[in-house]
Amino acid sequence: MELKPISKIAILASGRGSNFEAIASAVISGDLPAEIVLIASDKQEAPVLEKAKSKGLRVLAEKDQSALLGVLKSLQVDYVVLAGYMRILSKDFISAFADPRGFSRIVNIHPSLLPAFPGLESYRKAFESGVKVAGVTVHFVDAGIDTGPICAQESFEISDCKTLEEVEARGLAVEHKLYAKTLNWILRNEFKINERGGRLHVQPY
Ligand code: GRF
Repeated sequence: MELKPISKIAILASGRGSNFEAIASAVISGDLPAEIVLIASDKQEAPVLEKAKSKGLRVLAEKDQSALLGVLKSLQVDYVVLAGYMRILSKDFISAFADPRGFSRIVNIHPSLLPAFPGLESYRKAFESGVKVAGVTVHFVDAGIDTGPICAQESFEISDCKTLEEVEARGLAVEHKLYAKTLNWILRNEFKINERGGRLHVQPY
């Protein structure tokens, strides 16, 4: 893939938007070589849309994925960034962002050390399972649920956390840094992909 100085990204989110805010800050400060061309949500009332509007960004509330895909294509989006997007993307949507190297140019952040605790409420699952270490994963999206090639992971201790809220607060702080940092090398195309153990292995330079 040709190296682009600035990538066009669209952020899809369904709720609060704290990861959106962290990414937007990294773009504004010049740490992330991206232009946020759209914030889209499947929920009209999602707080993330207000947050994006207040930064003067283009927003869209759209449930229908083929309509959303049409907009993303017209905006010539390079990477789709999922930040708390609560819908499963269709095969057509994912293949529209296929990279010739074998992954999709759709990135997600998941609040666990995948493959542990995929799906919903992963901080709760970690808290209630008695594990001492929880974590966060950034991965490329494939057709499965939280199964795509892993780009980055970071763990954090939770043995001293007394409530789920403490786990979530600690996790979100990790998410906000890890997402911007990982997107940075992804968008700069500073990574290589090879196969390891029958799966794609993503390695930053
Ligand atoms: C985060 O925990 C993210 O990992 C998960 O959904 C949550 C979204 O939070 N996928 P926010 O909307 O970015 O604040």
